[in-house]
Amino acid sequence: MDWALIVVLQVMFQPSLSVLFTVVAERAMYELKFGEDVVMGCRFHPKFSNPRAYLKVTWHWTSHSSVREVYRMDNWEEQLASQDYRGRVRLLTEELQEGWARLQISSLRINDSGTYQCSVQTANGADYKTMTLSVVAPYNAVTKHIQKTAEEDWVLLTCQSRGYPESSVTWQDGHLQILNPDTTAVSTADQLFTVTSQIRVRSSDKNNYTCVFTQDGNSATFHIPDEIPVLQGKNDALIVVLSIGVLLVVIIIAVLMYRRRKGSNANSTRNLLVDGRGRSASAVVCLEKDEDNEEEIRVFHEVSTEENLGVFLRAHYCDFSFSPEVRHHWDALVVEELRHRLRNNEGHPVNLQALLPEAGETLFLEGPPGSGKTTVAHILVSCWTEGSTHALSNLLDLSTLPLLFYVDGSKVKGDLLQEITIQLFLTEKISTEDELRTVLTRSGEALLLLDGYREGNQFFDESLRKFLREKEGCRVLVTACPGHCPTLKDTVETERVLQLQTV
Ligand SMILES: *[C@@H]1O[C@H](CO)[C@@H](O)[C@H](O)[C@H]1NC(C)=O
Ligand SMILES: *[C@@H]1O[C@H](CO)[C@@H](O)[C@H](O)[C@H]1NC(C)=O
Repeated sequence: MDWALIVVLQVMFQPSLSVLFTVVAERAMYELKFGEDVVMGCRFHPKFSNPRAYLKVTWHWTSHSSVREVYRMDNWEEQLASQDYRGRVRLLTEELQEGWARLQISSLRINDSGTYQCSVQTANGADYKTMTLSVVAPYNAVTKHIQKTAEEDWVLLTCQSRGYPESSVTWQDGHLQILNPDTTAVSTADQLFTVTSQIRVRSSDKNNYTCVFTQDGNSATFHIPDEIPVLQGKNDALIVVLSIGVLLVVIIIAVLMYRRRKGSNANSTRNLLVDGRGRSASAVVCLEKDEDNEEEIRVFHEVSTEENLGVFLRAHYCDFSFSPEVRHHWDALVVEELRHRLRNNEGHPVNLQALLPEAGETLFLEGPPGSGKTTVAHILVSCWTEGSTHALSNLLDLSTLPLLFYVDGSKVKGDLLQEITIQLFLTEKISTEDELRTVLTRSGEALLLLDGYREGNQFFDESLRKFLREKEGCRVLVTACPGHCPTLKDTVETERVLQLQTV
């Protein structure tokens, strides 16, 4: 009799024992860096027997005060994720049959940090588990900058980096003395912090100064006075001679600029655009904007909006940089030949359109001296200036590009933004460096074309690297001889390098 009872009990309880449904988190804690992808996992047991059996999987993000749904699949139907995660989450559905509910979140943001809860429900029951995700951004690249101050014999040392969470910065000198910096943190749109720390030191004291971002221990060291820009030194015949030379150059440039301005103002604003007429027969755009644009030209003398800046730059390129002599070099034959020599990383020929970097991309064009890099740069500029009337407009379409800033790399002296302002005569168009930076970094709207760049000018190199790290949507094309900008190429980790081969 007892025997029969046992069998009955077994039959009654066995199924419920065997289907005790559990969910187990793969890990309790995930720590990743800003921009990376994470896969968080939950294992459920038992797996379902029939591949189309009922299944519901949800992932939530929770904090003390709120809950956000991150992902939901109900009876095998995926629902749209909440706005914050749209396009960034994916359930690895191929692993469901194995008993895994794994969620991938890509391009992690700082505010993705928090507690995540996965819950799984099948015909056998339901269960959930939680885990935490923490997204950090190390203060990796510390940039340093030395600036003279109004007081003689003092310089301002600046260290700057970006990361999360907010970091303090400590400074010490070569004798391990702790120094007291002035540190500010500004929050960026990505919720990172741009932390800037400065100290003032005597330029005549031989000493070393190191700033340390305490959050990750990254640092930078200044060797004073060795790293102070040359002109800071005193009583050195060579420096005196150099100073006089630089002064003369500045005076000559100033006189030239003054004469140019005076000339164009005197002949009415219209001539600013039309000046290219006589000089450059094929520069049609320089001709066609006559009467109807008089209005426009007057306007751009008054306000400084982006469109006006575009008009101004086009006028500048028509008027100034690209004379008929230059243009003469790229008749159809030359262009045809160039097209065959333009190659991608793998050595395959590419078309001219490949020269336009994507929004946010830094692209290099490399070739030995004389291979035609500057000609290519000039073609880009003239194509942009003249638009659909340009002879090559069927090969190279730059019509989506509101602004193109051409910088001659062989002439650079100051930092990048200064250089753009000076070379393109923007002082009257753009009043502050911040304004210029804003115009440059707006998504995909500007192309910075740095022609014939060679590393070696500390201020310019550093400002360029800094700009490239923070350039957001700016498109950048750098032309250089192979090996002339190794540090820059390391810094930007570009994927595309175009080559101009010689025949
Ligand atoms: C500064 O650093 C250099 C090289 O690292 C070292 O030779 C020099 O002694 C240091 N100077 C001071 C004052 O610490
Ligand atoms: C999270 O940060 C992004 C920017 O990185 C922002 O667009 C989004 O609105 C933020 N979400 C919440 C809930 O604060």
